[in-house]
Amino acid sequence: MDKFKRKSTYPNLILLNISTLLLALHITAVTSIGVNYGTMADNLPPPAQVAQFIKTRTTIDRVKIFDMNPDIISAFANTNIPLTVTIANGDFPPLANLTAAQAWVASTIAPVYPQTKIEYILIGSEVLLWGDGTMFGTLVPAMNAVYNACVLAGFPDIKVTTAHSLGILNSSVPPSSASFLFGWQQYFLTPMLEYHRRSKSPFMVNPYPYFALNYSNNTDFVLFEPNPGVFDPVTGMNYTNMYDLLLDAVYVSMKKLGFPDVDIAVGETGWPSAGDPGMVLCTVQNAQWHNLNVVKRAGSGVGTPLMPGRNFETFLFALFNEDLKTGGTIENHWGLFYPNMTAVYDIGITRQAQPGGGGGGGAVPTPVTPTSGKQWCVPKKGATDASLQANINWACTSGGVDCSAIKAGGACFNPNTVWSHAAYIMNAYYQAKGLQFFNCDFAGTGSVTTSDPSK
Ligand SMILES: *[C@@H]1O[C@H](CO)[C@@H](O)[C@H](O)[C@H]1NC(C)=O
Ligand SMILES: *[C@@H]1O[C@H](CO)[C@@H](O)[C@H](O)[C@H]1NC(C)=O
Ligand SMILES: *[C@@H]1O[C@H](CO)[C@@H](O)[C@H](O)[C@H]1NC(C)=O
Ligand SMILES: *[C@@H]1O[C@H](CO)[C@@H](O)[C@H](O)[C@H]1NC(C)=O
Ligand SMILES: *[C@@H]1O[C@H](CO)[C@@H](O)[C@H](O)[C@H]1NC(C)=O
Ligand SMILES: *[C@@H]1O[C@H](CO)[C@@H](O)[C@H](O)[C@H]1NC(C)=O
Repeated sequence: MDKFKRKSTYPNLILLNISTLLLALHITAVTSIGVNYGTMADNLPPPAQVAQFIKTRTTIDRVKIFDMNPDIISAFANTNIPLTVTIANGDFPPLANLTAAQAWVASTIAPVYPQTKIEYILIGSEVLLWGDGTMFGTLVPAMNAVYNACVLAGFPDIKVTTAHSLGILNSSVPPSSASFLFGWQQYFLTPMLEYHRRSKSPFMVNPYPYFALNYSNNTDFVLFEPNPGVFDPVTGMNYTNMYDLLLDAVYVSMKKLGFPDVDIAVGETGWPSAGDPGMVLCTVQNAQWHNLNVVKRAGSGVGTPLMPGRNFETFLFALFNEDLKTGGTIENHWGLFYPNMTAVYDIGITRQAQPGGGGGGGAVPTPVTPTSGKQWCVPKKGATDASLQANINWACTSGGVDCSAIKAGGACFNPNTVWSHAAYIMNAYYQAKGLQFFNCDFAGTGSVTTSDPSK
């Protein structure tokens, strides 16, 4: 505990660091930072207002979303802000077929591109962590097919990738010992890295030093504070922080498979600004300090000990605090901004409204008061039957849900529709897992609601 005490003994030192870093960010103005625009909330401004806000009041220069939300995609039209979109885990397997991928590009991308500057299409989200056998088997083929379909449609600038949790690593400390989990290497990651090399697209990972806290009792190391560092005896490199260490662990793992040249992008990273009582590291100051250091690295060419001079395109998690995420207070506090578009803390990415118009974002929306109480997990509007059926199949097998109620003769068989069966099963899984928001994600096809769907 003396680590935490020491921290509060030197508040001036920390404040000095923050203002120095902020000053450096403002002066150099070379920062390039993306954000994840998550929408698990009932009080966010409409997408058009968010797009205007990002464009006129921040220096955020790229945005990533977790689905194909048409309102958000059209809100970013003609903003010149690159938008990264995600095909939900349940929806991408059929796109492993080139004909199907071409039809999908024709119906979904062609009407909105290039007015909306789509930068990346992500095939699923952390598929190797959350997916099932069908998804594993179709992941790389779908990446290839969607990419080829984009090229054939005349959109060679759209890159196709997928984001990985660092659960794909066997170990990471010291980085020289890192490797991908054995089973993933030969079947998925080698062909995927071959694909990335050929298509010149980045291997995207979600490194969260925050979630490495359980594996390290060195909080200063995790939080970019002065510390003795971690020495890697094999490479002779000294690590001063967990973030660099995690990126180098990914690099070493790629290198061991023969792909040190493939670019790495950071799909998500961040720090919660508040937590439940006792979560002493979840503070505004720590979130600000962590994200300042991430912004300082992103696109600066600083690189890491094993990748000096390299840039990592980076997306912070997240744009807004999201009130409907469950799983404890921290889950509602990953945001850089409150829903009213006021910054939770300053990391040098906001700018003042320009005088004489063009300032945008002037009208602050009235926040909707969220109703407290019970929560249900339901299929998202627009989720396809195929993805909902995949959710049912998964929950009834790997998910451990008792699915007798939706079988013929079961209490919840009627109405006999995929949507209604999925609503029952997804909610049963969500309730059984203790209302953790991530147990209602279902690869972007589920959403938490506070109104009883059976009424
Ligand atoms: C792809 O789908 C089309 C149309 O459904 C089908 O004719 C074709 O055989 C499929 N291709 C492969 C390689 O499965
Ligand atoms: C993890 O690494 C250890 C040590 O190299 C190895 O014995 C083990 O098989 C690996 N496990 C997996 C799942 O890759
Ligand atoms: C650490 O592990 C505990 C128990 O599994 C979990 O509740 C907590 O959220 C974890 N903390 C982090 C930062 O991952
Ligand atoms: C925790 O600290 C102890 C002693 O301070 C050290 O020996 C140990 O390696 C540390 N464990 C981790 C996981 O960092
Ligand atoms: C890393 O730290 C060790 C031990 O403090 C030191 O001997 C070594 O020179 C350092 N290596 C580099 C590359 O700075
Ligand atoms: C925005 O919301 C935050 C959190 O609810 C609040 O503290 C702040 O005062 C609000 N700012 C404005 C300008 O309404």
